Amino acid sequence: MEYRTLVTTEDNKSYVNSIENRDISNLPDNDTLIKVKFSSLNYKDALSASGNKGVTRNYPHTPGIDAAGIIENSSSDKFKTGDEVIVTGYDMGMNTFGGFGEYIKVPQEWVIKKPKNLSLSESMAFGTAGLTAGLCMRKLLQHGLEPNDGNVFVSGVTGGVGIISLMLFKKLGFNVTAITGKLDQEEFLRNLGADQVIDRNTLDLDLISPLQKPIYSGGIDAVGGKILSNLICSTSQRAAIACCGMVGGLSLDTSIFPFILRGLTLFGIDSAESLLETKEEIWNNFASSWKLKNIDKNIKDISLEELPEEIDKILKGKQVGRVRVVYD
Ligand SMILES: NC(=O)c1ccc[n+]([C@@H]2O[C@H](COP(=O)([O-])OP(=O)(O)OC[C@H]3O[C@@H](n4cnc5c(N)ncnc54)[C@H](OP(=O)(O)O)[C@@H]3O)[C@@H](O)[C@H]2O)c1
Repeated sequence: MEYRTLVTTEDNKSYVNSIENRDISNLPDNDTLIKVKFSSLNYKDALSASGNKGVTRNYPHTPGIDAAGIIENSSSDKFKTGDEVIVTGYDMGMNTFGGFGEYIKVPQEWVIKKPKNLSLSESMAFGTAGLTAGLCMRKLLQHGLEPNDGNVFVSGVTGGVGIISLMLFKKLGFNVTAITGKLDQEEFLRNLGADQVIDRNTLDLDLISPLQKPIYSGGIDAVGGKILSNLICSTSQRAAIACCGMVGGLSLDTSIFPFILRGLTLFGIDSAESLLETKEEIWNNFASSWKLKNIDKNIKDISLEELPEEIDKILKGKQVGRVRVVYD
């Protein structure tokens, strides 16, 4: 049986993305075959689709770290044909063919039964970006962060992780500062619940003094580099930051002072390899107490054919919000 899929091919160190028909026997030899109904685009997919060997070692390859669909067959007792399921992360889309194809074949240990009050399409409006925002929030709430503690921030806020972090903070009653490089999106961000919008270019990133004015009781950083270094110095007593991204750089330039004089906690988030139970907890939250009514409104639906253009946009930092791939 043939299926449609995006294939990234290596050609003399350049990488080409094309849509092809492939035979299903090309899928890896895993125990659970899923017909994909929706996928979504994340920054990591763009890295995989552009030849980042830290993400994907071998080409040709099908990226896509997210998939929501229907069990076609599985040797697992946990699933029966027709069950609606979600798969995110682990090796999918990295070195195992991913959700940018109409079918995936993955180990049952990666698969989650979709919660009742969340549709397949909603699940991919969240995708790994949403899961990551949820994992950040889980850490901050476990730390004890509360709206009364004061203002929180979200950096890289117009991106996938950023937007859902903003909406979640708002849903939970926090006063949120949105830090962005796209001031033209201010109205959009305010409509999503941002109380303040700051242009990241106005932060003095070369002046990282050990301690700056304590402005934030916590936050979610999807950028890393100098922005995170700066924000670390701007936190108040007993603050907590959850960091997950590196679009702004890989290094962290800071001092010990925010940690030993203000008791700052910095949480690192790795959504791909999170325990399946932890992922289930977040998906259940998205189906209940963290339900975001507007999640479907702020999403761009595209076909497989439109993916290469959107991949290019996310690589250039030009993407706003989430992109969902919809199959027929
Ligand atoms: N650790 C994990 O488990 C995990 C999971 C998912 C994603 N991530 C990482 O989190 C980051 C965000 O992912 P995403 O899917 O939200 O990506 P995205 O949709 O591309 O969003 C990234 C946002 O960061 C800002 N940005 C882009 N280039 C920048 C630069 N040079 N300096 C500062 N800010 C910049 C932009 O927002 P503004 O213009 O609004 O500032 C952009 O929209 C990526 O590094 C991704 O790899 C990590």
